[in-house]
Amino acid sequence: DAEKADYRARIKSLLVEQNAVLVAHYYTDPDIQALAEETGGCVADSLEMARFGRDHQADKLIVAGVRFMGETAKILTPEKTVLMPTLEATCSLDLGCPADQFSAFCDQHPERTVVVYANTSAAVKARADWVVTSSMALELVDHLDAQGEKILWGPDRHLGSYIEKQTGADMVMWQGACVVHDEFKAKALLDLKAVYPDAAVLVHPESPANVVDMADVVGSTSQLIKASQTLDNETFIVATDRGIFYKMQQLTPHKRFLEAPTAGNGATCRSCAHCPWMAMNGLQAIENALTNGGEQHEIHVDPELGRQAMIPLDRMLAFAA
Ligand code: 13P
Ligand code: SF4
Repeated sequence: DAEKADYRARIKSLLVEQNAVLVAHYYTDPDIQALAEETGGCVADSLEMARFGRDHQADKLIVAGVRFMGETAKILTPEKTVLMPTLEATCSLDLGCPADQFSAFCDQHPERTVVVYANTSAAVKARADWVVTSSMALELVDHLDAQGEKILWGPDRHLGSYIEKQTGADMVMWQGACVVHDEFKAKALLDLKAVYPDAAVLVHPESPANVVDMADVVGSTSQLIKASQTLDNETFIVATDRGIFYKMQQLTPHKRFLEAPTAGNGATCRSCAHCPWMAMNGLQAIENALTNGGEQHEIHVDPELGRQAMIPLDRMLAFAA
C-alpha cells in the first residue's frame, strides 16, 4: 500500500546516502526481505548474514533480525556502524544463557572444548573455543570428535541432542531452548503427515527430538529453503518460523507449504510459529534507525570482549568456508 511504498522509497534513498546495506534474516517480515534484496543487501540464514556483513564494503549495516545477529556483525567488523530496527529484539536462547553462569559451567569442565551456538551474547562467545550456526554445527562437532575432543555445548539442548545422536560425540550440555521451535508437536505432525502422506517434512534442529526424528531434511533456514527447491515433492510440512514461507513460496510458487503444528492441549495453533522478537522488525523502525541512529538502534560491543569473541567467530567462518 501507499504508506509502505513511502517507507520503501525513503529507506532506499537513506541507504544510498549513508552507504548502508540491509542484512535481513528469513524470519523477518516479507516487506523487509524484499527490500533487502532489491537494494543489494541480503536475506539469509545466520551464518550467511555474518559472512555478508563482514565482506560488504558498506560503512553501515542495518541488521534486521535479532540482537545476536547485530552483535556478530559488529564483532566481525568493529569499524562499521551496525544499526538494528530495535535493540529489544532478543532470543530465548540468548536470554536463557547468562554469561556468568555459562562461564561457571565451563569452569566445571576445563578439559572440554567449548562450542556455542551463534544465538548467544558477545560475552558467551568470548568464553567459547568455537561458535557455530545450525548450518555447520554438525560438521564441526563431528570434526572435533574425530580428533578425540570432548565437547561442552550450549545453549540449545535440542540442537545439541541432535548432534550428539548423529555424531556420537561426548557432550555435556546447557539446557536452553528456542520458544518458537520448542512448541512443535510430534503427535500432531504425525496426524498431519497422515493427511498429506506425500509431503516432505523439513525441520529446523532447534525442534524437539521426536519432531527432528520425523524429518526428511534437518537444517538451517537456508538449507531448508534449498531442500524445498531440490526435492521433487509437491507438498512440504515445515517445522520452523513461518517467516520462511515467503522465500519458499517465491522460489517455487507451484508447491504447497504447510506449517508444522504447534498443538497445545489438543487445539491446533496455526499461528504460533513466529518469533516474537523477529516480529519487532518493521519498515518504520528501519527508517527510524537510519534517520536517528543513536542509543535505540546502534549496536555497541565492548572492544576487548569483541576481540575475544572474534576469535571463535573467525574460526567458524573459516571452517564453514
Ligand atoms: P539459522 O541459522 O538457521 O538462520 O537460524 C537462526 C535462528 O535463530 C533459528 O531460530
Ligand atoms: Fe531465538 Fe528462536 Fe527467535 Fe531464532 S526463532 S531468534 S532461536 S527465539
